[in-house]
Amino acid sequence: MKNKIIFLSAALAFIAFSSCKNDTQSSGSESVQTEEYQGKEIGTEHDAEIDKLIAQMTIEEKIGMLHGNSMFSTGGVKRLGIPELKMADGPLGVREEISRDNWAPAGLTNDFATYYPAGGGLAATWNTEMAHTFGSSLGEELRARDKDMLLSPAINMVRTPLGGRTYEYMSEDPFLNKKIAVPLIVGLQEKDVMACVKHFAANNQETNRDFVDVQIDERALREIYLPAFEAAVKEGKSYGIMGAYNKFRGEYLCENDYMLNKILRDEWGFKGIVVSDWAAVHSTAKSLKNGLDIEMGTPKPFNEFFLADKLIAAVKSGEVSEAEINLHVKRILRMLFQVKAMGGGERAKGSIATEAHYQDAYKIAAEDIVLLKNENNALPLKLDGVKSIAVIGNNATKKNALGGFGAGVKTKREVTPLEGLKNRLPSSIKINYAEGYLERYDEKNKGNLGNITSNGPVTIDQLDPAKLQEAIEAAKKSDVAIIFAGSNRDYETEASDRRNLNLPFGQEELIQKVLAVNPKTIVVMVAGAPFDIDAVSKKTSALVWSWFNGSEGGNALADVLLGKVNPSGKLPWTMPKKIMDSPAHATNSFPGGKTVTYAEGILIGYRWFDTKNIAPLYPFGFGLSYTTFAFDNAKSDKSEYALNETITVSVEVKNTGKVDGKEVVQVYASKTDSKITRAAQELKGFQKTAVKTGSSNTVTIKVPVKELAYYDVTAKKWTVEPGKYILKVGNSSRDIKKEITISIK
Ligand code: BGC
Repeated sequence: MKNKIIFLSAALAFIAFSSCKNDTQSSGSESVQTEEYQGKEIGTEHDAEIDKLIAQMTIEEKIGMLHGNSMFSTGGVKRLGIPELKMADGPLGVREEISRDNWAPAGLTNDFATYYPAGGGLAATWNTEMAHTFGSSLGEELRARDKDMLLSPAINMVRTPLGGRTYEYMSEDPFLNKKIAVPLIVGLQEKDVMACVKHFAANNQETNRDFVDVQIDERALREIYLPAFEAAVKEGKSYGIMGAYNKFRGEYLCENDYMLNKILRDEWGFKGIVVSDWAAVHSTAKSLKNGLDIEMGTPKPFNEFFLADKLIAAVKSGEVSEAEINLHVKRILRMLFQVKAMGGGERAKGSIATEAHYQDAYKIAAEDIVLLKNENNALPLKLDGVKSIAVIGNNATKKNALGGFGAGVKTKREVTPLEGLKNRLPSSIKINYAEGYLERYDEKNKGNLGNITSNGPVTIDQLDPAKLQEAIEAAKKSDVAIIFAGSNRDYETEASDRRNLNLPFGQEELIQKVLAVNPKTIVVMVAGAPFDIDAVSKKTSALVWSWFNGSEGGNALADVLLGKVNPSGKLPWTMPKKIMDSPAHATNSFPGGKTVTYAEGILIGYRWFDTKNIAPLYPFGFGLSYTTFAFDNAKSDKSEYALNETITVSVEVKNTGKVDGKEVVQVYASKTDSKITRAAQELKGFQKTAVKTGSSNTVTIKVPVKELAYYDVTAKKWTVEPGKYILKVGNSSRDIKKEITISIK
C-alpha cells in the first residue's frame, strides 16, 4: 500500500484565519501538500511454501522459469500450479499482444489499450500525483490483459538531446526522475503487478547499444546515473529491474557483478528479479552468478538461450550448482506470490481502454503541455471575430501511439491535434487544413531501423511546392494560423539516435513562409526531444510544446490553445540553442566507438549550462502560464541544520494575473565555497500548486539535509559538506526569485 504522508501547508491555516478576519480576502483553491510514496515491501511469508515447491521441481522445470518460453513470458510448471510469468511492454501503455515466437502482432481483438503520454511528457507535469495516477491506471490495464509485469518505467538519464529514446525517458535530472518514477512504480504495483524499471543502467544512447562500453567516473555514476534506480528500489520497492544492453566498465550489464550484485543487491537490498533486455545476455554461468535472474530475447528457439539448455548442461557438469539455480527460482516465485499470481489472494482485476483511463491520460496531457513563448498574449486564442483558422502541418493529423522501432500501443483512441480543435471549436469557425510538409525519408540513407550501428533516418528536407502553396493559401485566407510542427515516433525512435537537432522535413522554411503571410501564426511543437527551434522561436509570437501525448493529446492541446486549460508544464530538460552547447557534444564524447567516456562527469544537462555559463534557448524547469505568479516571503524554518534534519522551505505563491493557474515551485541548492567540484546548482525539491486568481498559497517543500550530499569516491560514501549552502527558490532553473542561505553543522 502507498504510505501517504501529507504535510499540510500553512495554506489551510491561512484559509481559516483569513475567512474569519476578512471575508473578502480570498484564499488559494487547493491545500498544498507534499506526498512521499513508499512501495510495499517484498514479503517472505511464503518462503516455506516456496521451498517445498522448489524441492519438487526437476532441474529442467526450474531452468524453464529462468528464460523466455515465448517472446514475453517465462516457463511455468503446470503440475505444481506455477503459472508462466507474463510480461508486456511498456512505457506508453500496455503493448498489443505479440506472437509467442516472433515479433508479429498476435492479431487479438481484445488488446486495444489506452495510450498514455510518453515519459518526457509525464516528467513535464512536475506532478507526483500525476505519476501515481499514470502508474495505477496503467496497472489496471495490465491486469485486464492478465499480465504480471510491465516493462516500465524507462528512467535512463537524458544525456544527449539526440538520444533516440529521449521521448520515452524522463529528464536530465536525477531528482526529477526519481520523484516521478517512484509514485509511478507504487501506483502500478498497487494493482498486483510488477514494475520492471529499465534499463539498468547507463543506457543513454542507442548508437552501438549492443556492445558499447560505457565509462563513467564513480561520482557521476552515483550522483547522476543511479539515484532514480536507487529510489525505485529503496522507496518504490520495484519488483523488477531490466538489465541494459550495453557494457559498463568492460562488462555487459546483464552479467555485471558490480552493478547487479554489489550495488543493486548488496548495497540497495533489492529483493526482486533482474530481467535481461531482449537478447542482451552473452553468457550462461557468468550471467547467473553475477545477478541475472531471467533471460528474455528475440526469436530463436527458446531452448538455445544462454539460460536454457546451456544452463542445464552447466548444472550437470558442476559448473553451476543447483543451489544457485534455486536462489533465482525462489526470487521469481516470491514475486509471483507478491502479485498474487500464486497463493490464492484476491488479485486486482483491472479494466482497459475505459473512459476513466482515457480521462487519466487527458489529465496528464493537460498538465504536461509547456508554453514557451506568448508575446502580447497571443494565447489563449480569442475567438471573438474569428471566422477561420488555418491548421497547418503533417503533425496536425499524425498519430504516434505506434511508430518507429520498439514498443507502442494499439489503441482505438488517439485524438490528433486537428481532431482536438474540431472537437473544441464552435462549428461556426471554419478550419482550413493544409498538410504543409511531408514526412519523407531518403530511402537509401534511411538508416536501418533496428541496426543500432547506423544513425537515425535521413529526412528529405525540401518542401513539396504544391503543399507549401496550399499552406500559404490557407494561412492567407484565415484569421489565425496554427502550425503543428516537430517530429513523430518514426523519426524519434528506439534503436537509433538522431543525426542532428534540425527540424526535419523542411519545417523551418514552412514556418517562416506561413509567418510571412499571417503574422497571427502560432507554432505548436509535437515532439519528445529538443530540436533547434532558435530561429522559429525568434519569429513566432506564441510557441507551445506538446509531446507524444497519449489518447487524449489532441483534446488537451486544444483546451490549452483555447484557454480552457491553463498550461502548467515545465521543461524536463534544457533546450539548447545548438547541439554543440550540450555537454556530451561540447566534450566530444558522444557517441564514442566501442567505448564511450562520459567526459562531462556530473555536469549533465542544466548542470553543465549553469556551471559553464552557457545560455540555453529555454532552460530546464521553464514553462509559462496564462497568468502570472509572484513569490513572496520565501524562507527556511531555521538557519542551521544538523545532518539528520530536514530543511523546510516555504514560499507564498500569489496568482497576480487574471485566471486560475498552476505553478511549480523549484528549489535548487548551491554551494559556492565547496572543496570539491560541484555543479552551479542542483534541483533538490519541487512542488506544483494550484492558485486561484488573486489568491496565495503557501507552498512547503521538505529538503532532507542528506539530499545535499555528494558522493565521496575515496571514502565510498555519501557525505554532506558542512558550512553554507544557498537554496534558490524559483520557477525555472534560470528564474530564481529568492535565495535563502542556510548552514549545515
Ligand atoms: C527494449 C526494451 C523492451 C524490449 C522488449 C528492447 O529492445 O530496449 O525497452 O522492453 O525490447 O520489447
